[in-house]
Amino acid sequence: MRAVVPGSFDPITNGHLDVIRRARAIFDEVVVAVGANSSKRYLFEPVERLELVRAATAHLDGVSAEPLTGLLVDFCRSRGAGAIVKGGRGGPDFEFEVAMARMNHSMTGVETVILPASAQWSFVSSTLVREVARLGGDAAPYVPDVVAARLATRRAHD
Ligand code: PNS
Repeated sequence: MRAVVPGSFDPITNGHLDVIRRARAIFDEVVVAVGANSSKRYLFEPVERLELVRAATAHLDGVSAEPLTGLLVDFCRSRGAGAIVKGGRGGPDFEFEVAMARMNHSMTGVETVILPASAQWSFVSSTLVREVARLGGDAAPYVPDVVAARLATRRAHD
C-alpha cells in the first residue's frame, strides 16, 4: 500500500525524517506531500521546502516528494494512496491531528496513522528550529545536513 506523509516542512527536521523512515518501514511506498496550512506564515517558499524535502530523502528507497496544493484527501485519491501517516508529539497539536484525521476520514474514508514521535526527537519542531537558527544557535543536531547548510546561508544574508 502507498501512504502519504503530509506537512508543511518549514524546514524538514530529523523528527520528520524519522516519521518518513518509519512510515516507509510499514508501507510499500511513501509520498511526502509538501503543502501549507493556510493559517500559518512560512520562512521558506513552497518550492524551497519541497527541494529540501527531496534532498533530505533522496537516499531513501520508495520515498518521493510532491507539492500539495488542494485538499489532502484529493491528493491521496489521485495518487492511489490508502493511508495518511503523521507524527504526533502530543499536546494541542495532537488534538488538531485527530480532528484533521476525522475530517479526512469523514470526507473519503482515508485512514490516518499517527506515529508517536521518537523520544529522541519529541521536542524538535520546525518552529523551534527556526527560532534557534534565527537567534544564532546551532540547529545542525536537529535537521538534515542540507537544511543546516541552508539555514546557515540564510542567516548570513539576513
Ligand atoms: O506541517 P503541518 O502544519 O502539520 O501541515 C499541515 C498540512 C499541510 C498537512 C495540512 O494543513 C493539510 O493537510 N493541508 C491540505 C489542505 C487540507 O486538506 N485541509 C483540510 C485538512 S482536514
